[in-house]
Amino acid sequence: MIMEERAVPPRVVAAERVASEAGFKKSCIPEVGRLLRLAAAAKPHGIIAESGTGSGVGTAWLHSGLGAGARLVTVERDQELARRAANVFADDKRVSVLTGDWRLLEHHAPFDVFFCDGGGKRDDPQGVVELLAPGGLLILDDFTPSPYWPPRFSGEVDELRLFYLTHPALDATEILTTPASSAVVAARRL
Ligand SMILES: C[S@@+](CC[C@H](N)C(=O)[O-])C[C@H]1O[C@@H](n2cnc3c(N)ncnc32)[C@H](O)[C@@H]1O
Repeated sequence: MIMEERAVPPRVVAAERVASEAGFKKSCIPEVGRLLRLAAAAKPHGIIAESGTGSGVGTAWLHSGLGAGARLVTVERDQELARRAANVFADDKRVSVLTGDWRLLEHHAPFDVFFCDGGGKRDDPQGVVELLAPGGLLILDDFTPSPYWPPRFSGEVDELRLFYLTHPALDATEILTTPASSAVVAARRL
């Protein structure tokens, strides 16, 4: 299949360059990035958060959908990565790049969008849900699609995925981001 080359926002290109310079290989893929942009654009006055900035690629996708009245806060525990990523957004006062553990985000909650990508997702899933505002959107990527219910990974029930997909405070679903990868997208009930 011939895929059309889709445009990538300049700031994403800049953050990808930072990743390459830093040897960082865990940036989100463009398919996830477009989902992040959509979520940020749906909350034009919202507080948008990300745990695990990396080099700022996901942050840059979120930024590409950021409303004039919105704010974006992201946290990275690797000091050097956080410093490099902060440079990508130095000209925009709506963006804060924090250095430290993901729990620093708690001071900025509740969130209208939360891309939970480094810290929280596995170690405190209930804490992640509690950081969402009513109607707030949660995005978790890097799952492996499963044809089974409950979802399985490596032959075992994927309890973490199941937690998010069946949480009573969430309306949640799993979507394919590529044929081989999926994301959980959820909205916190009012
Ligand atoms: C998958 S990468 C992030 C990619 C980035 N969100 C993107 O979309 O391009 C995960 C990042 O989370 C950071 N991280 C892991 N645990 C963390 C924690 N407890 N607090 C803050 N950052 C953390 C790692 O250092 C790593 O840079």
